[in-house]
Amino acid sequence: MEERIQKILSRHGIASRRQAEAMIAAGRVAVNGVAAHLGDTADAEQDEITLDGHPISQAPPKCYLMLHKPAGLVSATEDPKQPTVLELLPDHLKRVGLFPAGRLDKDTEGLLLLTNDGVLAHRLLAPRRHVDKTYFVQVEGQLDETDVEAFSTGMTLGDGLVCMPAGLEVLGQPDTAIVTLREGKYHQIKRMLASRGKPVRYLKRLTMGPLKLDPALKRGEWRPLTEEEMAALRLAAGV
Ligand code: URA
Repeated sequence: MEERIQKILSRHGIASRRQAEAMIAAGRVAVNGVAAHLGDTADAEQDEITLDGHPISQAPPKCYLMLHKPAGLVSATEDPKQPTVLELLPDHLKRVGLFPAGRLDKDTEGLLLLTNDGVLAHRLLAPRRHVDKTYFVQVEGQLDETDVEAFSTGMTLGDGLVCMPAGLEVLGQPDTAIVTLREGKYHQIKRMLASRGKPVRYLKRLTMGPLKLDPALKRGEWRPLTEEEMAALRLAAGV
């Protein structure tokens, strides 16, 4: 895939895009032995890109972070208007190509996996993998057995969305529940509960497959996955 050279350098954690542009302008970067110019593109997989004559490694190291997403940030790598979850990371981790594996809405909190491993993320999110995600939810109104039944049989919403069977376990306070989803359609829980006349007031993801939100992480905090978490995640994703 052809990309701007500054983007490749930044994704490899070598420099920010702006710094990479300065390196290119200074004639320090070459593609297949020919000095690069600002605006040039290259294919990181195919071309040999060098900085000061030294090849940059073909791929940045794989990185897997657990983030406790706070409300107010979008689950994206870039957004023209709104702050993204990547803004919670230090500069060196902003440049290694991390992206959220599965989205949470801007006002949703909880477990978000950030990785630059596209294969693992893709497998993990494939509905046929049956990697469950659980959420704590608080609604307006009171949940009851009819809601549990509707979730478990698979709902078709007024807007045409066909949902796979999902879990709804009502907690001690009947406006709270644990929802278990096997898929992740746009605003899915909010749409399912709105269609039951019980709009969501608060939503937090607790688990994703074998990963559990670390209770030691405060909102906005993150940590690398442990070896055990990595092994369990690979097993769940089948990689
Ligand atoms: N369902 C939603 O409605 N929002 C989320 O962020 C996650 C699941």
